[in-house]
Formats: sequence, structure tokens, C-alpha cells
Amino acid sequence: MGRLFKVGCAFVRHRSSVLTPILQVVTKPLSTTSTSVTTEVHKFCLETPIDEATTPPASWYTDGRLHDLEMRTVFRRNWVAVGVANQVAKPGQFFTGVLGTDPFVVVRDQSDQLRAFHNVCRHRANIVVRQGEGQAQHFTCCYHGWTYRLDGRLSKALRLRGIKNFSARENGLKPVAVRTWGPVVLVQLEGDGREDFEEKTSPLLQHLDTQGFTHGMRHICRRIYDAKCNWKLLVENAQDHNSHVEYVHKDLAKIVDLPSTKVQATELYSKMTGQGATENEQSTEGQRYGQAGYIVANVFPNLAINRYGPWLDTNLLLPLATDRTRIVMDYFLEEDFVKNIGDKELAEFVETSLKDSDQVQKEDNDICESVQRGLTSSAYDVGRYLPAIEHGPHRFHIFLGTELRKGLKL
Ligand SMILES: [Fe+2]
Repeated sequence: MGRLFKVGCAFVRHRSSVLTPILQVVTKPLSTTSTSVTTEVHKFCLETPIDEATTPPASWYTDGRLHDLEMRTVFRRNWVAVGVANQVAKPGQFFTGVLGTDPFVVVRDQSDQLRAFHNVCRHRANIVVRQGEGQAQHFTCCYHGWTYRLDGRLSKALRLRGIKNFSARENGLKPVAVRTWGPVVLVQLEGDGREDFEEKTSPLLQHLDTQGFTHGMRHICRRIYDAKCNWKLLVENAQDHNSHVEYVHKDLAKIVDLPSTKVQATELYSKMTGQGATENEQSTEGQRYGQAGYIVANVFPNLAINRYGPWLDTNLLLPLATDRTRIVMDYFLEEDFVKNIGDKELAEFVETSLKDSDQVQKEDNDICESVQRGLTSSAYDVGRYLPAIEHGPHRFHIFLGTELRKGLKL
């Protein structure tokens, strides 16, 4: 019988035990195949209170098997943010993407209904829509010409003479669940995952709507960054109660009132609120935030929202690999703000704000990439939480850990 070791909150036996040969304690290296995925998932305890808890192990950020598990479970069975509504505002507008190994297309059909499909031809699996976004009357596969209506139905398939047991009705593009939440478009590849999303996120949506979120905002532009880090580091960085701002964002620190920061964390989202600095009206940089309250929010798993001054930016955190994440940022301004400012002043304000926002994002990406490199060190496995301020990341890890454990059983 092997010795008992503490792994997460469960005692398991060393591998010499014939009863539980896959459970073992290994400190480093974590990215090897010497520990099972199950062991790594269970290293994070869901029940330990925050003042005693340790964070998820480094393997959650560095091990490709954990990444694969996340993509098969978290990013299939939850509502995942993939775009913004202005990309599909008019009939015929579409955009495409890939979640894990599943290419998809989102489109507003001719009846003004928002739809999403697996972007794979039913004939030979060719990618049907190969543009990133655009406008279409129908979708035609470039391989053999099979054509689909925007509602997914197969409308043209050539040279079918002699085929038996074939129904065009049953050979349309396979549908994917799609919805909007505020200005964000979300898809869910497996439909039975999150029926409670609406109810559980509605307090956050209502709060955001009081300041302008679903309505009254004009899309200004999109910016895309690729960061060399795991997607979760970007989530946690946004959830850390602004405690990194004075170190990482020295210019941003001048225009926010850091002591006013408050955090609320629930199962599906976390929300941080704070105030702009009182001197903000006197500088162009300060106007970006203003003096009114700002909101930083994260909706599980991959949506971040920043609402500050007249600005809203939505961030889609799209995992590309274990240590690669695409950040798609859409910037919106209050319609009333746009209408009440001259063209020249507006152009200058937008340019200055985007420059400052770009600086903040590059500072965030740089620090998250540095953490990613640190996570591969043999000296680090788990960290600790600051109980007074880090319940946002803690709740995120509990929910994520719950999802991963469910995923192990699938
Ligand atoms: Fe930051």
C-alpha cells in the first residue's frame, strides 16, 4: 500500500498503490505526461475557504491536456463570447470563427433572425464560409458548389441523380445555439450546458444597462491583440481588484480612484466598480474615465467588459493554444456624447483614448506574458489568494474547477 499524499482537498495514494495507480503527487515538471489530467484538475480544491486555499496549479496554464479539456468542456458547454451585434446588424451580415476544433458561422438571415451554424459542408466537410466577415445572399461551398440559404437549408446540390435516401431538408448546415447579451454575440456548441445563463447574469446586465450597454452606444472600432499567455491569466488580471494598477499602469493610476474599488463575485460573473479621479475633468487623459463610476466585469468564461466615462469596450478572450490568446476589443462610445461634440474634437478624443487604452492593454499583455513564463519554472506550482480582495479570481477558479471535473466524466 502506498503512502497518502494531499492533492488539492483529496488524499490519494502514491503510485505504488495498485488501487489508485493514476493518482500521484508530482511537484515539477507539470507539463509532462507523468501526472494524469484527473490529478491536475483535482489539485485545486473547490471547498477550501479563500483564506486557506491555494490557486490552481501551474499545469492549468501550461499543460496542453488541460487546454484540450477546457476546449472540450468549458468552451463547448457554456455561452462563449465570439463577436458583437453590430457585425450581424443587417440581414445577410455574417462572421466566422473557430471554437476548439469547430469552425462556425454566425449570420442574420433574410427574416432578420440571428442564426449560427457549424461552418462545414455536409457533402465533404469543406469550410463553407471562408471569409472572416461580410455580407451574403447565401453560402456556397467552393468545392462542389453546394449552396445553403442563410437559414441553413440546403438549396442547391448538383449531380444527385441516382442517390437514394437523401433529403435536402436533412442536409442543411448543422445549427449552433446563438444569442446576444448586451452588444455581445455568444454561441454554445452543446446545447444543454447553461440554461441558467439569463437568470444568473441578469443583475450584471441590468447594472450595465443603467450606464449604457445594450442600447445607446455607437461602435467605434475593433482592435486585436495576440498575447503569449493562457487566457485565464487575462481573466484573473482583470479580476484582481485593480491591485496591479499602481505597479503595472502608472499612467492609468493617475485617473482612477483606486481606494474606491469594490468587487462583487458570483458564480457566472465578477464585477468591479470604482470612481474616476476628482481631477479628471481637467485633462484629456482624464476625460477618458471622467469622474463617474466605472465598471470592470468578467462573464464566464471569456468575456471582459470595461465601462468608463463615455466609453464601453468589450473584450473577447479567445484561446488559440495553451499559451496563446487572441484579445478582440470592440470600442463603443455613448451616442449622446458623439452627438454633442464636434467632429474634430471627437476625432482627437478617440485618438487619445485609443492610444491610452492601447498602452494599458500592452502593459497587461506584457505582465501576463511574464507570468506565463514564470509558470513554467520548476520553483512554482501553486500560489495563494489575498482573502480581502481576490474573491473574483477565487470564484472564477471554483466555477472553472467545477466545469473541468464535470468534463472528466464526459
Ligand atoms: Fe491591468
